[in-house]
Parts: sequence; structure tokens; C-alpha cells
Amino acid sequence: MKSILLGLVLLLTLTSCTKKSESPEGTVSSQAKQELVVGTDAAYAPFESETADKTVQGFDIDILKAIAEKSGLKLKFVNTPWEGLFSQLQSGDRDILVSAITINDERKKVMDFSEPYFEAVQLIALPASSKITKFDELKNSKIGVQTGTTGDEVSSRLLGKSNPNIKRFEGTPLALQELENGGVDAVVADNGVVNNFLANNPKTFKTISDASFSKEYYGIAVKKGNAELLKKINDGLSAIKADGTYDRIYKIYFGEKKN
Ligand code: ARG
Repeated sequence: MKSILLGLVLLLTLTSCTKKSESPEGTVSSQAKQELVVGTDAAYAPFESETADKTVQGFDIDILKAIAEKSGLKLKFVNTPWEGLFSQLQSGDRDILVSAITINDERKKVMDFSEPYFEAVQLIALPASSKITKFDELKNSKIGVQTGTTGDEVSSRLLGKSNPNIKRFEGTPLALQELENGGVDAVVADNGVVNNFLANNPKTFKTISDASFSKEYYGIAVKKGNAELLKKINDGLSAIKADGTYDRIYKIYFGEKKN
């Protein structure tokens, strides 16, 4: 008898639960604006960084937010380590990646990129006293890079991928810190980030560019085949370029645009 009663109570509870989640309001609100999860390695100022209260900010963040506004997307930014970032798209844990990601053929195999939204190039950071004048001369030096970045790629090409003189770090700020500590002779990373770091440590470093480095273009990434989302992002990007929003954001972080 007791168990029958218990069963009844359980059944009633279950049906009421099911009812609730199937109510029209519930359905509408969950479909209205699905929140998209954006992965970003937020240790890459001025593109993405974290404030003291753990909100992400930066050029990439502002650009994607402006795109989202145009295309009616709802976003939630999640600070995500660079290593493993790309696979988060495949697993579905992230819907979008914005992380100063250079578009290249290797990466295009595993994800789809938006139209380019920023041009960059590798830059070499050196101690102010360094005698190095070009990249080639770093063949026998210790170079600090962020693991798996394009800075890692160019350095691996020069020194050989398994050369112990390539010091790989989890984040670009860590590599630059090691330069400050004298643990590496140079750091190779994206110009925007190196310049930003330099602006805050003007006396310790100098930079050199090298003609052998080719131009890089940042793209916003979605899961391979997610054409619908990619179109929304591309349309939003065109719209913010057309109405001056892009230039306004650009100016905040990099000053007047040179063409
Ligand atoms: N642009 C470089 C690359 O794609 C570095 C990007 C690193 N981004 C970051 N948020 N840590 O490899």
C-alpha cells in the first residue's frame, strides 16, 4: 500500500515537472535567443584580457559584440586556454572562437573562419641591449613563444621544431616575462601584443621586424560546416565595417587607422 502511494506521488511529481518544461512559455524563451558560448584565451591584450572581476575585454571582444548586435546573436564569453582551444569547437563546448587567431590552411582543415577582421605580423622582442638585427641571427639563441601559435611556427622553421632552444609557454605574457628575467634571448609573437607589452615596459625591450615574416589575418572561427552561424558573423562584420563601428572600435585600441 505504502509503495503504491509513493509511486503515485512520484508519478504526479514527474508529470507536473514534464508539463512545466513543455509549457509554451518555456519553449519560446529557450528558442528565442540561444546563448552562444565564445572561447577566448584572455591573456592577449589588447585583443583579449581579463579584468580584476574576471570579465573579458579587448578589441576582439568589442568587435564580436558589435557583430552580435547586428546579427541578433546572444553571446557568453568564456576564458579558455589557447592549448586545446580549437578542439573545443569540435566537441561543441564552444560555438565561436575569437582569440586573435591567424587564418591558415592547417587550421582551415579543422574549423571554418570568418572573413579576416585584422592584419598582423610577427614581431621580435629583444632586450634593449641585444645585438641581434634580424631573425636569422637567432639560430643559436633561446626563443620564447606561446605554444602552437604562429610565433611558434616561424621559430620552429628557423631552429627546428624539437630544438630545445625554443622555449614554449602557455601564454604570450609568460614568454615576455621570461625575456624580462633573462631566461630567453628573444620572443616572437604577434606585433599587436608585443607592442602593447612594450608600451608598459618601455625601458626593458626593443623590437625588430623581419622581412621574412608574412602578413597574417585574424579570423573568427566556428565549427566546421556551421554555415548558418558563419554567415551571421560575416554579415555582421560587413555591417560594422560599413557603418563605422569597426573603425570606432579600432581607434580605441590602436589609434587612427592607416591605410
Ligand atoms: N595570431 C597568433 C596565432 O594565431 C597568436 C594568437 C594567440 N591568441 C591568444 N589569445 N593567445 O597563432
